Amino acid sequence: MQIHFLYGTQSGTAEYLCDKLKDKVGDRFDCKVSSMDEVDPTALDPETFYVLVSATFGSGELPDSAQSFFETLEERKPDLSRIRFAIFGLGDRTFGETFANGSKILMTQMLACNAQMVGERGLHDASSDDLPQHVAVPWLMDVLSQFSA
Ligand SMILES: Cc1cc2nc3c(=O)[nH]c(=O)nc-3n(C[C@H](O)[C@H](O)[C@H](O)COP(=O)(O)O)c2cc1C
Repeated sequence: MQIHFLYGTQSGTAEYLCDKLKDKVGDRFDCKVSSMDEVDPTALDPETFYVLVSATFGSGELPDSAQSFFETLEERKPDLSRIRFAIFGLGDRTFGETFANGSKILMTQMLACNAQMVGERGLHDASSDDLPQHVAVPWLMDVLSQFSA
């Protein structure tokens, strides 16, 4: 199985995290990392597992590099019923109600296109003491274990 990590970032954390996740599972899976704005969501591959990692920017909005991916999903509404994905959100709880809202917006749109979500949305709070990879690696392991369950 190929895993394609897609990041939506404003200041680099989501990209860094995707690289870390790739390092962690790259010996077991054929992995690739891309910015979301380099990927056409109407041309996703059913044989690939997509792991979306998105920050939140502005007041609960998507970062710039996730914008075109989201807009294409919203406007074109591709049938993603054969596409499997998981999603991990980066945010900061000091922003209150908009915590990790960017990943929620993306998740909602993927589901609206009938994509199959594996596992729960993972979350990292930048105001906590945890490093993103310390939360995301166990989350990814749990998600991947659901394929063999
Ligand atoms: C200007 C600005 C606005 C932000 N707005 C939110 C927000 O509304 N909700 C949230 O949960 N986090 C918010 N964040 C926190 C970022 O999502 C968080 O720091 C994340 O780890 C950044 O990831 P990135 O480096 O990949 O862009 C904001 C950060 C900045 C700098």
